[in-house]
Amino acid sequence: MITRVLVLNGPNLGRLGIREPEIYGSTSFEDLAELCRSTGRKLGLSVEVRQTDDESEMISWVHEAADARLPVVLNPAAFTHYSYALRDALAMRTAPLVEVHLSNPAAREEFRHTSVVAGVANGTVAGFGLISYQLALQAIAELAAEDRAGEPGPGLEEPAEPADPGKPAAP
Ligand code: DQA
Repeated sequence: MITRVLVLNGPNLGRLGIREPEIYGSTSFEDLAELCRSTGRKLGLSVEVRQTDDESEMISWVHEAADARLPVVLNPAAFTHYSYALRDALAMRTAPLVEVHLSNPAAREEFRHTSVVAGVANGTVAGFGLISYQLALQAIAELAAEDRAGEPGPGLEEPAEPADPGKPAAP
């Protein structure tokens, strides 16, 4: 069974290849999109890649994904750090969500250390350049397979009960 996946990209990612290549690499956005599609084919995913510089357009795509129960790989770009509107839209998701970054925001300027979307994602892959997207698609393929089998995977499980420090450890 082929799972449809949206790979959504936020502001300035359409400029990949010419945008700060020392940070984001020299691969163009079109080449990144092709890599995502070919990676998807190998994983049994039908991948559609989109990019926008517009917060409202990004939010409408997130609504579309929620309505159609589509998994999403999302590089929110700078929206990561401040868009509560995008986070609220993502909180309505109905299928797995993996946040992705080319660079490692935690190793960069302080304002990049906060992700307002991470808390509503299954997980985040950051710092591996193009490989971040491939790893994210692999995670989506696993989560979609677990969903189909009816087993919640690690990212979809109910949070574990917090450990009770007064209770002796289980044998
Ligand atoms: C980015 C990291 C963000 O901090 C930045 O605003 C981007 C790209 C990344 O892929 O490394 O635009 O999301």
